[in-house]
Amino acid sequence: MSTMASKQSNPLANIDWAYLEFYVGNAKQAAHYYCSAFGFNQVAYAGPETGTRDRASYVLEQNKLRFMLTSSLRDDDEISDHVRKHGDGIKDVAILVQDARAAYDAAVAAGAKSVLSPTESTDSTGRVIKATIATYGETVHSFIQRDGYTGVFLPGFIEARKSIEWTRKPNLSHVDHCVGNVGWGEMDPWGDFYARVFGFSQLVSFDDKDISTEYTALKSKVMTDERHRVKFPINEPAHGKKKSQIEEYLDFYRGPGVQHVAIATENIVETIDALKANGVEFMDTPDAYYDELEARVGKIDEAITVLRERRILVDRDDLGYMLQIFTKPLQDRPTVFFEIIQRKGSLSFGKGNFKALFVSIERDQEKRGTL
Ligand code: FE2
Repeated sequence: MSTMASKQSNPLANIDWAYLEFYVGNAKQAAHYYCSAFGFNQVAYAGPETGTRDRASYVLEQNKLRFMLTSSLRDDDEISDHVRKHGDGIKDVAILVQDARAAYDAAVAAGAKSVLSPTESTDSTGRVIKATIATYGETVHSFIQRDGYTGVFLPGFIEARKSIEWTRKPNLSHVDHCVGNVGWGEMDPWGDFYARVFGFSQLVSFDDKDISTEYTALKSKVMTDERHRVKFPINEPAHGKKKSQIEEYLDFYRGPGVQHVAIATENIVETIDALKANGVEFMDTPDAYYDELEARVGKIDEAITVLRERRILVDRDDLGYMLQIFTKPLQDRPTVFFEIIQRKGSLSFGKGNFKALFVSIERDQEKRGTL
């Protein structure tokens, strides 16, 4: 009974992912890239033609995933400043809540900085309430309350459907977790922020002994909601022989921000084959990784040769195992990338794979001369 009471009293219980908003230099072209490469369909649009004078936004959809790509039409607003400073990146990790006013009030009372106080917008299909708070860097969280809203996305958007005929569909399902990179010594304060403001608890943490190679290091802590639906790992750099990949991100993004979004699939082998056929590039893994794989993770459903050919990584915990692979950065700056993940019971974030991953990341850092 006491858990029931605390669930009801926390307006950030029973939350889910709403959408990710990217601020980009050219939303029209970025929309085409995410549709053709990653299998999204365009569903909605807002811009000058719909009465939004200063920006253009394209909404893409795939199963439970929603991306919004926004570009400024001006030279001196918050969006163009953001793109000049950070390059293309994720501005808003928006969360679906039951009561946006209560979520916002509780967050602000717990010390979150307000970006937008609860704002109601309506059209003929209903009403949406949106409120926004700041998180690390210039990243924000919007709280979205849709009630019974039946419009295509949010009021102000028109239905604008466009889809591509893929020969193989990537079939990406939903966001599994969304990772933030923060500065030296900032992991614990931001972990505390998600505990205080969202009522999240800590799922796992790694230190630089877990996540380091000879050259690079990081610390990480995973904050989660009660249902393990919305998970926010927070990384900070750690000292290694050479520059940490988190530091490289912070240099190029000009501060903290979203490092990667892990997107779940029901069949990672089919998904990766489709994404590769569409031209998506993935991080490589040393061949030796597969020689030791079965000894490390035990018997799994997939043939090791199938995983080896595709460079898919595997990790195991006491609940099961998971398969994962990381894309190369999605823009020229080595900042945001995606992870594709299939969970088979496991709650792991791939601790056992960090070392294998870092060896391959460092190989690319070396090519860019930033190691
Ligand atoms: Fe991840």
